[in-house]
Amino acid sequence: MRAKLVVGNWKMNLTRPEAASCVEALVKQIDSYEDVEVGLCPSYLSIPVVGNLLQGKSILLGAQDVFWAGSGAFTGQVSPSMLKEVGVQICIVGHSEPRGRFGKLEIPESTISYFGETDQTVNLKLKALLYHGIVPILCVGETLAEREAGKTDSVIQDQLAGALDGIDAAEFIAGVVAYEPVWAIGTGKTCDTEEASRVCGMIRTHLAKLLDQDAADSIRVLYGGSVKAANAKELFRAPDIDGGLVGGASLNPEEFVQVIRAAH
Ligand code: 13P
Repeated sequence: MRAKLVVGNWKMNLTRPEAASCVEALVKQIDSYEDVEVGLCPSYLSIPVVGNLLQGKSILLGAQDVFWAGSGAFTGQVSPSMLKEVGVQICIVGHSEPRGRFGKLEIPESTISYFGETDQTVNLKLKALLYHGIVPILCVGETLAEREAGKTDSVIQDQLAGALDGIDAAEFIAGVVAYEPVWAIGTGKTCDTEEASRVCGMIRTHLAKLLDQDAADSIRVLYGGSVKAANAKELFRAPDIDGGLVGGASLNPEEFVQVIRAAH
């Protein structure tokens, strides 16, 4: 039986004092459940302060991205050992935003190419995280145009194959995959439960082909995209959805606590 996992992705939000207040409010209200794991992915700058506040708590400390090299002339990047050294246990990889795929376009289209994550860079980052014992949360998902063209499953299968190239079942068995339909991220549009569950199930079937059945049965497949207190219970009840990767709603401790409760 897979424990549910609910991870807050704070994206580029919350200064360090704001991050500290958010964690303090969260730990006061959160119940600890045996069947639900919780994680938080603050900005790089807030990881140490959040990590200090989570000492002795069962909430996992996460990062939103990583670079694959150990060290060197990579201005602006952060290595897996730097994350490890500040206590990071989980890390998001291949989110649609660094891939340059936005649900709601908030930056000029002409700058999209600056967000250059590809399946190949995702693969290098996954390998680096696994080597350092940090649990990756691999994000996959289709844009609205891809969905309307009937390409949802093939896009996701290609993303999985590219990301997991050269990685075997034993290496990824503790890994996590998050299905995040790009059109549902930050837009308030949630993928309906039936379809979210179908896609999460398809992901598990494909993981069994790429890795093996044991790994596919162990890997948590999360749903992300406008998850909130109002829809979490229904989504998490679906047998193929093992929890959520939560953006906006994780910035509000009261709301996030309700999302976590919904997973119990
Ligand atoms: P929202 O919950 O704000 O739609 O963001 C989802 C997401 O991208 C989590 O990684």
